[in-house]
Amino acid sequence: MITRRTWCSALGAGMTAGAQPPVAAPQPGDSTREQRLRWWHDAKFGMFIHWGLYSVLGRREWVLEQEAIPISEYEQLARRFTPQPGAARQWARLAKRAGQKYMVLTTKHHEGFCLFDTKLTDYCAPKQACGRDLVREYVDAARAEGLRVGFYYSLMDWHHPDGERCAKDEGARKRFVAYIHGQVRELLTNYGKIDVLWYDVAHPLDAAGWESERMNRMVFELQPEIIVNNRNRLAGDFGTPEQRITEEPRPWESCMTLNGSWGYCRTDDEWKNARTVIRNLGNCARGGGNYLLNIGPRGDGSVPEPSVQILNSVGSWLERNGKSIYGTERARLRYSEMTGFTRRGNTLYLQVHFWDGVTLSIPGLETKVLSARLLATGEKLSYQQDKYRLLFTGLPATPPDEPVTVIELECEGEPVQMDRLLVRGRDHRGKV
Ligand code: GLC
Repeated sequence: MITRRTWCSALGAGMTAGAQPPVAAPQPGDSTREQRLRWWHDAKFGMFIHWGLYSVLGRREWVLEQEAIPISEYEQLARRFTPQPGAARQWARLAKRAGQKYMVLTTKHHEGFCLFDTKLTDYCAPKQACGRDLVREYVDAARAEGLRVGFYYSLMDWHHPDGERCAKDEGARKRFVAYIHGQVRELLTNYGKIDVLWYDVAHPLDAAGWESERMNRMVFELQPEIIVNNRNRLAGDFGTPEQRITEEPRPWESCMTLNGSWGYCRTDDEWKNARTVIRNLGNCARGGGNYLLNIGPRGDGSVPEPSVQILNSVGSWLERNGKSIYGTERARLRYSEMTGFTRRGNTLYLQVHFWDGVTLSIPGLETKVLSARLLATGEKLSYQQDKYRLLFTGLPATPPDEPVTVIELECEGEPVQMDRLLVRGRDHRGKV
């Protein structure tokens, strides 16, 4: 049970006088889940931010382990981690321009350095050269742009002396779990209302070792409306496919890098282009999922120029075509490299990734299409339809929108597509 006292202290200044606390703290999986997830389902697109001491070196966030840097040497990076003021404002503005509705920042990555103020270690930004609570700056920045706030928190910790030996030594486990739970408590107590808790890497303990059930209970007592992911070895509220888009039968969010690294990598130039990002976003939305797209700012907080450019183009596309993404529902239609779909009610959004200008058709759409128009310009398109094929006629020769053109199709009912074998079999009836 949650008492009025814990609710008020949890929400601190954010609590409005007279608001009533809920009767009980929600659990992942309970009846409040759908309600807690609603904004997130509608939002579809978020910004992931990997930032820490590793950002100073620019050789990815696993550099400590991958280059076998001794902890005492790595700790020296804290002297050089003195980000420019206002960095978080830049990210939040970028996210807003990109059409992202929420942000998730690494408050502590595997390296163990905390970007927030904590009583439990001195290895944190406010007590080192930086001298500022970077999580506070981030939370304020996100709120100033009207974005929801998420905290990533790595359970695995390479810096904490008990972080590895906790697997074999019960005394170490108890100390370490008290540290981790204590930090989660601080994060969810000191920054007002937090919308997402994004655990990561539960090595080296199992759910019993982390006392994950107890941890989630505490989380929901402190933040009754929060949603949590599945990386503390419990199912949580949503799944987290990484670097891939795989539809899950429950709420899910695909997290992905913009190049190949999460943390800043000076030499990684394998950037996705705006079309790929839009296609991925559409494919997530089609499958009822979200897309959490990462930036890896430099140590000074600045965002690599290619990330800024790609996100700006995606954002300007979303200004014209956001209707085909936000608030859409799962669409049980097949997609290809050429085209994708999203759906809201009886409206289908056909996303054409490569505009041919001569021909365009959808196979096996059995539901009657009432009208078709280009989303960007409103121009009506003509078409012919039988149950095997919807064929557009008289298409503009050049792509009406870049990098992806969206056609809005009003259908008579919820769009249904015929099995592909039946479509193929129409000329071979009885033989397939
Ligand atoms: C993996 C990586 C980590 C990254 C995370 C993002 O768990 O270890 O570096 O933060 O993926 O999902």
